[in-house]
Amino acid sequence: MAIRNIVTLGDDVLRKVCRTQMQFDEKLWTVLDDMKETMYKAEGVGLAAPQIGILRRYCVIDVGDGLVELINPVITEMNGKQTDSEGCLSLPGRSAEVTRPQKVTVRAQDRFGNNFTITGEDLKARALCHEIDHLDGILYIDRAKRDK
Ligand code: NI
Repeated sequence: MAIRNIVTLGDDVLRKVCRTQMQFDEKLWTVLDDMKETMYKAEGVGLAAPQIGILRRYCVIDVGDGLVELINPVITEMNGKQTDSEGCLSLPGRSAEVTRPQKVTVRAQDRFGNNFTITGEDLKARALCHEIDHLDGILYIDRAKRDK
């Protein structure tokens, strides 16, 4: 495993719409392992492929209850609202209040291409929405009420 460089605001790669991941092979697994290591080292709760310069639809999340790898994730259900402070490893030292769904259900594939569904509330719902936004070139500042 290796620590990857995290791209920061201003790099075009953060503003692109990522492409579907079609191959579930060792190349993908290596990147996922690197993303996990990079996220933990940076003390983040999520990291999306474009943040390490890869324009593919996958991300990793760990809000403290274990690692989740999501390949080609799609939000299938959203409920409620929550407003809280949010940050991003690509915008170090910054945060802003962002309103997100209180609960979301996401359909995705695991690293072997198997389909699964995950439901998250509170911080997990926020992390899921934030990382999936990255795959469409959307940053939390686009949804923020005010920047701090
Ligand atoms: Ni982010």
